[in-house]
Amino acid sequence: MLLRERLRPYVERADRALSRLLSEHASSPFAHPLMEFVSGGKRVRPVLLYLSHEACGGGAEPDPDPAAAAVELIHTASLIHDDLIDGDRVRRGRLAFHVRFGTDLAVLISDFVLSLVLDVAAGYADPRIARALARTTRVMSEGEAEEARIRARGEQISFKTYLRILERKTASLFSASAELGAIIARAEDRVVSGMAEFGRLVGMAYQLRDDLLDFGKPGEISALVEAKPVGPIGAASEDFASRAVGLLESLVLPSEARDLLRELALYATRWEG
Ligand code: IPE
Ligand code: MG
Repeated sequence: MLLRERLRPYVERADRALSRLLSEHASSPFAHPLMEFVSGGKRVRPVLLYLSHEACGGGAEPDPDPAAAAVELIHTASLIHDDLIDGDRVRRGRLAFHVRFGTDLAVLISDFVLSLVLDVAAGYADPRIARALARTTRVMSEGEAEEARIRARGEQISFKTYLRILERKTASLFSASAELGAIIARAEDRVVSGMAEFGRLVGMAYQLRDDLLDFGKPGEISALVEAKPVGPIGAASEDFASRAVGLLESLVLPSEARDLLRELALYATRWEG
């Protein structure tokens, strides 16, 4: 069966969790625009959270749904701002959020999202959940700011600096998603930190594969990397993915969820096809 088909129940669960969270604020001016905008995404991050939770033996309580909705909303807010900063007018084959709903709403939406995320965090007894959400939100914003600064100056960067930016702007949220799944499943500390590392590796593989499509094109951060042969980028992505898979096998026992996490690490950017 295609990976997309096997992941469908998790994607649908993420959709329900998002609808539930946003429907609590149905009268807010942000709720409808957000609902419309989130409808085109793959839900990679909440799916990672659910699979990590399941692979770690998590049950119904505490409920991973609010955390899954929170990571997707953090991702969503980052896409909205990314398009605003880049002046991109199209996202997921449709109008970018700031084009469709205006710059004001696009700027203010991150405050609304942060408020929902704080509320979600307050609903969990374990303070590590709030800390993981706080850390990724801070690190992502720092990564975006660093990228914006480098692009504004047009300065050349090393491959190492490039990887550090990817780590902050993308891999940190993948890391938090996998980590949150493990925390909510009440996994032991070794497994929680291992799943955070697994998520980080998957995020790196994912972003590198995504960048590979238009590596070095003007306007892309990758265009500023000093040496830009495409081969090593593909190899680096494969390397992160295989390290992720190796680590996973040392963390959790075989299960359907572990198998899907493995597939996600290997094929994350290709599961639509
Ligand atoms: C796009 O993320 C930006 C990256 C970090 C590569 P996704 O590829 O997860 O975007 P959607 O949510 O599925 O549209
Ligand atoms: Mg981009």
